Amino acid sequence: MNPLNRRQFLKSSTATGAGLLILPTGTLFGQNRPSNKLNIALIGVWGRGLAHYNVLKKENVVALCDVNELRFADALKVFPGAKTYVDWRKLLDQEKGIDAVVCCTPDHHHAHVAIWAMNRDKHVYMEKPIALTVEETRAVRALYLKKKNKLATQAGTQRHAIPNFQRVKEMVRDGAIGKLQGAFAWGNRQLPRPGYLPAEGSPPSTLHYDLWIGPSPMHPYNPGYFSGGPGANCLQWNMFWDFGTGQVGDMGNHTMDLAWQAIDATHPTSVEAKGDAFNPEVTPVKMEAHFEHPANDWRGPIRVSWYQGKVFPTMPKKFIDPDGIGHGAMFKGTGGVLLADFNSRMLIPEAKADLTEYKIRPKAQQIPPIGDFQEQWINACKGDPTKTSCNFDYNGLMTEQMALGLVAYRAGKKLKYDGKTGKTDDATANEYLGRKYRAGWTLNG
Ligand SMILES: NC(=O)c1ccc[n+]([C@@H]2O[C@H](COP(=O)([O-])OP(=O)(O)OC[C@H]3O[C@@H](n4cnc5c(N)ncnc54)[C@H](O)[C@@H]3O)[C@@H](O)[C@H]2O)c1
Repeated sequence: MNPLNRRQFLKSSTATGAGLLILPTGTLFGQNRPSNKLNIALIGVWGRGLAHYNVLKKENVVALCDVNELRFADALKVFPGAKTYVDWRKLLDQEKGIDAVVCCTPDHHHAHVAIWAMNRDKHVYMEKPIALTVEETRAVRALYLKKKNKLATQAGTQRHAIPNFQRVKEMVRDGAIGKLQGAFAWGNRQLPRPGYLPAEGSPPSTLHYDLWIGPSPMHPYNPGYFSGGPGANCLQWNMFWDFGTGQVGDMGNHTMDLAWQAIDATHPTSVEAKGDAFNPEVTPVKMEAHFEHPANDWRGPIRVSWYQGKVFPTMPKKFIDPDGIGHGAMFKGTGGVLLADFNSRMLIPEAKADLTEYKIRPKAQQIPPIGDFQEQWINACKGDPTKTSCNFDYNGLMTEQMALGLVAYRAGKKLKYDGKTGKTDDATANEYLGRKYRAGWTLNG
């Protein structure tokens, strides 16, 4: 069956819900029927990739891609018969029959993979962050917006499905802290490094180091980039400018999500940031960035702030330890403060606040549970593509804001930002909005 007809079949079979569609051959179609499985390519099969296996096992994983050939043996035990690739560009060009792509490569490939995949009309699950720079994030989001009625996308901020997120959102929206004035998110992770790792040895023949470097400028091989445990190896490379955005794209993408999902923000109109002295090789450990967001239809203008590396916002009470919270969010309103981490929340009303109008939502009116975050995307691929919580529109705006924070940090001054054009009011700062790619690596391919 050609891919387009297949996609129509998947859609209509999901729409019938109970698998009532009967083909001339007698094959039953419906949710979880063998014939209703997606054909998926998994790019980056180890590390974070492993966290997707349980959900992917229920579908047809037809292609695997990894720059480390040693990772294929175990992956093929789980996905027997899948074709293997070391270059995701070849996979996306050659695998005509795939419906969807799950990408768990290092961050500096994300925008490229997302755009190449969406250009070929593939649904995309992209590990966070979906891109490194303001320009990349905008390109990913813009392409998604053009195709949002046919492509399901999900950014890998799976904590979004923790019910605490929805309860926090309800409290902010329902007036638990009065009128919202500001939102804060912070993370205390510190990964200091002096600079890129020095040349050491040569890559093993099974590791395609040139493909690992991909679109970024070449840096000498060092086994240290590959020395971390499964799902934590990103902490060996994500602080270097050419491979990541430090804590902005690491825990920042999860933690700002806790605030972002409650505040209904789009583009900031200004940004200012400060932190460690600028190092052209390594992103800052300590940094804070502040964004002014205009009013919307349910709240006034607010200031949104991100803090990292053990720099914290001022807490409403001395006995609250933001370092003890670790990764947290805080909402300040006219009637009090709401503090939250991923799994819990704490309301601190102002002494004189009259919150008598605030009522905890009865269960029946609560935001419905998301369920399994990855399965939400799978279901959206098969049914309504708009039904994911962290599509590239929602997450793209947040990731763009966070990347803009790093631009202001580098510029060292307060910047005005025009969300329509994606430019600041400063020519030098505008040079930090994007990055250059090595020959052979095209963003819009
Ligand atoms: N959502 C989460 O909670 C969470 C947790 C950990 C990591 N992550 C994200 O997952 C991604 C991967 O992190 P990791 O720690 O697994 O990294 P990693 O360095 O272990 O890489 C993961 C896999 O991708 C392969 N790979 C590297 N470059 C590739 C390329 N160009 N093409 C194909 N395969 C390639 C590696 O060989 C490895 O098998 C990162 O973007 C990270 O931010 C998300």
